[in-house]
Amino acid sequence: MGYGVCGGQMTLTGKKIILGVTGSIAAYKAVELLRELTKAGASVLVAMTESAQRFVAPLTFATLSRQEVMTDLFARDDEATIRHVAAPHGADLFLVAPATADSIAKFAQGRADDLLSALFLACTRPIVLAPAMDAAMYRHPAVQANLTRLRTWGVRVVGPATGELASGVWGPGRLAEIADIMQTVTELLCPKSDLSGEVVLITAGPTRERLDPVRFLSTRASGKMGYALAEEAVARGAKTILVSGPSDLTPPQGVEIIRVETALQMRAAALDRLAEATVVIKAAAVSDYRPAHPAESKLTKRDAPLTLELVPNPDILHEIGAQKGTRIIVGFAAETSDVVRRAEQKLKKKNLDLIVANDVSQAEGGFESETNQVVLLDPEGGVDALPLLPKREVARRILDRVVSLRHEKQGGRVEG
Ligand code: C5P
Repeated sequence: MGYGVCGGQMTLTGKKIILGVTGSIAAYKAVELLRELTKAGASVLVAMTESAQRFVAPLTFATLSRQEVMTDLFARDDEATIRHVAAPHGADLFLVAPATADSIAKFAQGRADDLLSALFLACTRPIVLAPAMDAAMYRHPAVQANLTRLRTWGVRVVGPATGELASGVWGPGRLAEIADIMQTVTELLCPKSDLSGEVVLITAGPTRERLDPVRFLSTRASGKMGYALAEEAVARGAKTILVSGPSDLTPPQGVEIIRVETALQMRAAALDRLAEATVVIKAAAVSDYRPAHPAESKLTKRDAPLTLELVPNPDILHEIGAQKGTRIIVGFAAETSDVVRRAEQKLKKKNLDLIVANDVSQAEGGFESETNQVVLLDPEGGVDALPLLPKREVARRILDRVVSLRHEKQGGRVEG
């Protein structure tokens, strides 16, 4: 099997991976996985739970990995390894395959009463879990809730695959194919550069429309989604320009940041850089109106109602859509009702290639939260409802679509 090259080298050369093996019948497949990881150049340290050792002897893993296998939380060497995992220059990735329902529950609860759960908590690098269990166990709401929780913390879950299980039952619960696990590990350790050559212009955050020198109209938006998009775009090789409304977030390294306050400033900055942009993503929550007559000095309190006259702001995305050319244009639609239908209308009206619709009335799925639950809609009627995911993962999926759109526009073959 081959998994491409990374920087001209064998895919995982120099990468340090901790492979956690838990007590599932699929533990024997972890032997094959270990062989693939080492063949790809990774240095693999295996950690086993007690029950995993009933299925496969640690000696098998020790021989193939050419390293001692960790089995005991209280062994001095194993304790040292946990510290090593937590260290910035320690392991590059923690992979648990197979991950049983019990180990998943422990991780989701933040327990640390055995080696693997302690490793999970200590690990500050990417974590990948490949669940394997009986179909009924996998479908149980407890397991599903634990997996959702882990995903929202940024843990990548691969599989399980559907097929005939050890019990003879047909259903979901088989360990994902080794090739799929390798693919995920490679993706995380050797980021793609599939956006190199693109100039991605992203707008993020809210705008502020001044009422007087101390007051403004704005929208509940943190900028997290737009900043996550910028982080992902730059990591994938794009020249990235981030036009940001007021936000407390630190701009990702390597991204050109242009700070603005009002919708008019955002429009000016976006249009100024439009000529060089090949992709435009408008994640900003732009204020639709601004005060017609902002006061020069602070408005004083009176014993009478105050009427504000508001004038509409220009729709920046609409203007950009009207001069699209070969650009790929992605918009957002934050709605509180009738989400998909309204988003479809905006997709057409603003001449977009993709719209990211989300229901911002949900606590975890919209403004200010770390996670987002969105539906991706395209002009061909494609509707892709994503699960609740960390914003960085949502960004990854949006940019995957941008890459596919680029292939389509160029009439090339769409891969993956
Ligand atoms: O029409 P609506 O405001 O819901 O559309 C949302 C999309 O349009 C977002 O991508 C947002 O950034 C963009 N937009 C804009 N200029 C405005 C209002 C919205 O670019 N004045």
